[in-house]
Parts: sequence; C-alpha cells; structure tokens
Amino acid sequence: MRITVSVDGTAYTDDVEPRLLLVHYLRDKLGKVGTVVGCDTSNCGACTVHVDGHSVKSCSMLAVQADGREVTTIEGLARDGKLHPVQQAFHDNHALQCGFCTPGMIMQAIDLLADHPDPDEETVRSGMEGNLCRCTGYQNIVRAVRDAAGRMRPGAGPEAER
Ligand code: FES
Ligand code: FES
Repeated sequence: MRITVSVDGTAYTDDVEPRLLLVHYLRDKLGKVGTVVGCDTSNCGACTVHVDGHSVKSCSMLAVQADGREVTTIEGLARDGKLHPVQQAFHDNHALQCGFCTPGMIMQAIDLLADHPDPDEETVRSGMEGNLCRCTGYQNIVRAVRDAAGRMRPGAGPEAER
C-alpha cells in the first residue's frame, strides 16, 4: 500500500507491506533509529513517538495507519542545534544510564506535560507508567520531568511545542 506520512517535518511517500509496524517503517525505511524496539509487544514504551501530537507506542501501530498523519520522533525535537527542554532536563538531572528507554521516556514526558503543565510526583509516575527503565530506578526521571515542566512554563523561556 502507498502511504504518505510527515515524519519530523518531512513528507515521505512509500509503498509498504500492510503488516509493517510503524516502528519498523521509521527505523528500517527512514533510518530513524533513535526510536528503538525494546519488546515489540507494547510493554516497554521504548518505541514511543508522537502521532498528530499524542504519544503512541509505534510497535502497536501499523505504518499504513500513519498515512496522512504527522509523526514526530526523538530525532525531530532538537531545533537549530538546541535540545528540547525535556531533553535538556533529562541531561541535566542524569535521568539516563544506558539510554535505551530515554527516547520513549522523553516523547511520553512531552505528551504528559502538554496535559499537566505542573505535575506532582504522583502524576508523573502514573503518566510514565507505560515506559520501563531497567537502569535508573526512575527517581531522576521523575525529577527531570518535573524540572522540564518548570522550564516549559510561560515566562521560563521559549515555550516548547507539543
Ligand atoms: Fe514498543 Fe516495547 S518496543 S512498547
Ligand atoms: Fe537504561 Fe533506562 S537508562 S533502560
């Protein structure tokens, strides 16, 4: 089937197998290897991207379902050489070790912060519960998300896009 998808601001038209998962389309066809596969069964969240501004586990969606839609991956966040505030907060709060979960964590956090601009710890923990990390114990991830919230609030600098 022929699909046209906007990915990180660029339109791509490709012929794909109907069974192709979005995550494999992004990685294998477009070379967007920042989106990673941790489980392939919708459990770990490592493959999280945004589709029309909302987080989606890209191993749970077919590429053909993205036809005509706007996909953002971790690789589309930095602008003009400047990290997205959530990326910067993860860096500054040491919210990663091996980094495997980090792309999905950051995409999920951005979606969470769009709905909860000033989340308490409980809101962060429950909003991020679909994203697993084997390394950090989550403490610094929670800290980073709340720190990012402060950076993204109006008056804290250029407000980040969803
Ligand atoms: Fe998609 Fe684990 S690879 S949820
Ligand atoms: Fe290693 Fe999260 S930093 S899985």
